[in-house]
Amino acid sequence: MTRETTPTIAWDPETNSIVYIDQTRLPGTFEVVRCTGIERLARAIKRLEIRGAPALGIAGAMGVALAAVNSTATETDLLLAEVRQAVETLRSTRPTAVNLDRGLDRVLRRIEEARTVEEAKTIAVAEANAIAEEDEAACRAMGGFGAALIPDGGTALTHCNAGALACRSWGTALGVIRSAVAAGKDVRVIACETRPLLQGARLTCWELTRDGIDVVLIPDSQAAYLMRRGEIDLVIVGADRITRDVVFNKIGTYMHAVSARYHDIPFYVAAPISTFDLSHREEEITVEQRSREELASCGDVRVAPEDVQVLNYAFDATPLDLVSAIVTEVGVLRPPYRESFRIVFDEEVRSGR
Ligand code: MRU
Repeated sequence: MTRETTPTIAWDPETNSIVYIDQTRLPGTFEVVRCTGIERLARAIKRLEIRGAPALGIAGAMGVALAAVNSTATETDLLLAEVRQAVETLRSTRPTAVNLDRGLDRVLRRIEEARTVEEAKTIAVAEANAIAEEDEAACRAMGGFGAALIPDGGTALTHCNAGALACRSWGTALGVIRSAVAAGKDVRVIACETRPLLQGARLTCWELTRDGIDVVLIPDSQAAYLMRRGEIDLVIVGADRITRDVVFNKIGTYMHAVSARYHDIPFYVAAPISTFDLSHREEEITVEQRSREELASCGDVRVAPEDVQVLNYAFDATPLDLVSAIVTEVGVLRPPYRESFRIVFDEEVRSGR
């Protein structure tokens, strides 16, 4: 069973505002928040009320539309100045997921083409909605291609949340699982809790349980042992950015890829084309580091000595040679990736950007 859910994030045309599910409150409370200002949206992104690469792309796009419709400017130059400021505020929230930049820049470019203030507002909203719709279509298409990789009766390990909550709906890695289940396959999911913010425990388990998909929660540190016991058939995760050489995803992904290779288990990534950034290499990307409190405390309880140093990278990088295949909305890409990337992204690869 795979039932429809409220979109994670959407534009409300009645009130010209953004509505989204506050992911910090799940699984205890399902709350839809209305956002009417850029500062509030930036805070929502930083706090992970809205999170996951594709959802961040939509949030960025809708944020630019929000800045445009909120503007009282009567001339396009003034409106553009306000919108550009909003773009920089939103861009500074989280550096690793490329979709955020893509969403911001795509709507900004459309506004730059507008001849009147009214036109700018209309096309900004239309473009942001188009990005959201494309994301949903991409997830469905990824599901269609990726379902073939999931064996009937198989057990898939996933990390973090690459589900409906990380996108407009359906999901990337979890979208593949949903499509396999919708096609009649019996699939069991092992969800890693995903320390320290527990996106796996809180969000992946919530989503899959609601859909009636068999899910078992494990601590991140249990994954390799389950592989050793022969209890995992494949690993499937999402991505925050795919460069020419690595896949950036939630911290902990790399250790699953290394363990999967050691145990001869396929390691799959599911990501839309909007997550690819073939103009960069690993060392050129900023990996977000988050606050010490996220590690030194658990809820309101301090779990580490007060003065201990903390290192809290939010993402890691998995070399492409550990990735068995990448599921996209245009098909399943396989090694050698230089070749399969060239076919899909001919222009970008050829120009060496
Ligand atoms: O810090 P988060 O929760 O935004 O991290 C999200 C992830 O790492 C996801 O795996 C990734 O964005 C893919 S979502 C389809």
